[in-house]
Amino acid sequence: MSTYKLPLATNFTTKIDNKNTHLITLKNRTGMQIALTDYGARLVSVLVPNNRGELIDVVLGYDSINGYIEAQEQYQGATVGRFCNRIAAGKFTLAGENYELAQNNNGNSLHGGIEGFHRKIWDRQVSFNKQVDFYYVSPDGEEGFPGELNTTVSYELTNNNEIIIRFRARTTKTTVINLTNHAYFNLEGEGHGDSLGHEICIHSDEYLPINEKQIPTGEIAPVAGTVFDFRTPKMLGLDIGAAEEQLIFASGYDHTFVNNQPISQAIASAYSKTSGIELEVYTSEPGIHLYSGNFMADDKGKSGNKYLRYGGFCFEAQHYPDSPNQPHFPSVILQPGEEFNSEIRFKFNLKKEA
Ligand code: BGC
Repeated sequence: MSTYKLPLATNFTTKIDNKNTHLITLKNRTGMQIALTDYGARLVSVLVPNNRGELIDVVLGYDSINGYIEAQEQYQGATVGRFCNRIAAGKFTLAGENYELAQNNNGNSLHGGIEGFHRKIWDRQVSFNKQVDFYYVSPDGEEGFPGELNTTVSYELTNNNEIIIRFRARTTKTTVINLTNHAYFNLEGEGHGDSLGHEICIHSDEYLPINEKQIPTGEIAPVAGTVFDFRTPKMLGLDIGAAEEQLIFASGYDHTFVNNQPISQAIASAYSKTSGIELEVYTSEPGIHLYSGNFMADDKGKSGNKYLRYGGFCFEAQHYPDSPNQPHFPSVILQPGEEFNSEIRFKFNLKKEA
């Protein structure tokens, strides 16, 4: 499949909420290309070379802004916030105040609410054809969260075939924050069947078990002897159908792993023997959430092929789900005067078979 191209910029040029939207493309010196849109500060395309010297698009998405707006929301490539992942019953208490959020997922709050950061038109600035900074000011009380949140998400494409995503935020009131990128990867090329044959490696000894509503139970459990042990590379699909309560609760993998690695060492990787492409993930975040695309709708992606269940997987670097209600988890509290800072690196390598 050497036919992968970036979507047409004109398909992303429109006006939403009185703001212009765009497709922004970056290219590095080795030929890797990425496309981003200010609609949800999303990563739209990632073209990297495979073992046949062809550029293939390894990120799922749509070829027009209408695709993103009209498809059932899967948070494709999106910046997810203010609070990615789940908050139990959409409720939490902070500095003596009770807060209530929309229950948009099985009685819980998911991914920042109904009109979360993934649906906002971000302001943008492009620097030297290698970095795009997106800005969004979320008003005090938006989607029920306290404090005006001034947020920047920067995407940098390096000549080392890395996408570095940097998040920064400041608040006017004590608040909670958890930001991630929700790209779905398929290293055989988007729209190219399921991703169950990818070899996944997660350098984590512990994961967070969930209850039947997909909220962490609070326990931090060893992966040893469980289907969550990815410390030596294992096919994503190997155990996914196991009769294991944790997988049944989530219809597959949808779990957070503890990250004790420094940012200089990859916490996770995925590899496709078919394309020879390896993805490594580096992050400053204390958790990495593996989501195996369990709830993908049958919608058509960029290449015109349908995205089936498990058609892509996400490595969402983030703080732990439901942290506002679980004080023993790493803190997600941001105070006025502090700056929230976090980083995710997606690095693409071409591996030659021995
Ligand atoms: C969540 C899944 C959810 C998906 C939506 C993931 O981050 O963990 O449970 O269905 O996002 O796209």
